[in-house]
Amino acid sequence: MLKSSWPCFDAGSDYCPCILAHFGQCVSCSMLRGDVRCDCGWNGICVYDEFTRNRQSVKPGRQEIVAIVIERKEIANNGNCRAFWSRLSVTPNLARWSVFPGSFVLLRPRGTREAFNVPISIMETSEDGALEIAVEVQGIKTTALEQALQVKQEVLATGPFWSGLQGYSLLTHLGAKNILVITKGMGQAPVPLIARYIVHRGGNVKIMVGPGKLGQVFITENLQKLKAPFEVLPKATDHNLERYKQEIETGNYDLLISAGSSLQHQGILELLAKSSLHRKVPHFLWTSPLRMTCAEGICGSCLVSGFRGCKAQFDGNFKSGFEPNN
Ligand SMILES: Cc1cc2nc3c(=O)[nH]c(=O)nc-3n(C[C@H](O)[C@H](O)[C@H](O)COP(=O)(O)OP(=O)(O)OC[C@H]3O[C@@H](n4cnc5c(N)ncnc54)[C@H](O)[C@@H]3O)c2cc1C
Ligand code: FES
Repeated sequence: MLKSSWPCFDAGSDYCPCILAHFGQCVSCSMLRGDVRCDCGWNGICVYDEFTRNRQSVKPGRQEIVAIVIERKEIANNGNCRAFWSRLSVTPNLARWSVFPGSFVLLRPRGTREAFNVPISIMETSEDGALEIAVEVQGIKTTALEQALQVKQEVLATGPFWSGLQGYSLLTHLGAKNILVITKGMGQAPVPLIARYIVHRGGNVKIMVGPGKLGQVFITENLQKLKAPFEVLPKATDHNLERYKQEIETGNYDLLISAGSSLQHQGILELLAKSSLHRKVPHFLWTSPLRMTCAEGICGSCLVSGFRGCKAQFDGNFKSGFEPNN
């Protein structure tokens, strides 16, 4: 049976209670959804109490700010794809709150409508208010962004959002243990933040990284700075599944993080299901493959079996959370 409440990525933050509470659709509070009983299981600040004590008022959503492009480099430009890396100057507040693994922002060129917003993962943040990002040019929105993200130019940024990494609470519990991160192509973008979190918690992390269709590994400098061990994998006909299997079976990992496409997530899950591990199978986390437009729970782009994937923190038992919603 499906759960009716999930922990919310925004619970207890400056953005809670949000507009979903006002409309009786809070993802984590059954009482705000009209139930007489509480089934949230959340032991942080009570969303129901916050909402009722503050005369049923909700917090405003994230502010849109102007970000300035301070650096830009090409990552890939081959027949298959174009991608670039960029450093943006943002407000200290946005940089400070973008440190959590799975953080992302919505970016769009100045003068365009909100429909041009693109969710883009944070690769790194710095104290002086800068964010590193990487963008693969795919369709209209990223092409518009490619044109707008020129050095000294301005773009609009909304954030931070935190729902880019599902199963997040496992990382907070097991961040100091042995963790394997498997990543490929543009899936590399959120990995430096994930690795930084684990290294700072005193955990052991290994990253297996493949170039994917970009044909490039673009996070080596970030990982070297963190002294996070990594192995670059060649292109392989079995998508390196055999190599992953060998590493999982011999590596004594507590947590496995898949940062890539939903095909990669599924492939690794199937490996775990078939694995002949004598010890228990490592816990699994995955970067969100969902389509997100508002990231605030309003537009419904990210709905999975009726749950809002931009807000709800799913766990490994909620298999639909691995599938893209398109
Ligand atoms: C949490 C999150 C973090 C992301 N981080 C990055 C990143 O760091 N770098 C990067 O290059 N891309 C990232 N993406 C994917 C990026 O947002 C999409 O590639 C982009 O929105 C495509 O828009 P388009 O108009 O250029 O392409 P389209 O032609 O509209 O679509 C190209 C592909 O992107 C998918 N897509 C379209 N709109 C969205 C959307 N709003 N959300 C998710 N997928 C969409 C489509 O399903 C299709 O598979 C991230 C997506 C999410 C949800
Ligand atoms: S992205 Fe709009 S509701 Fe989740």
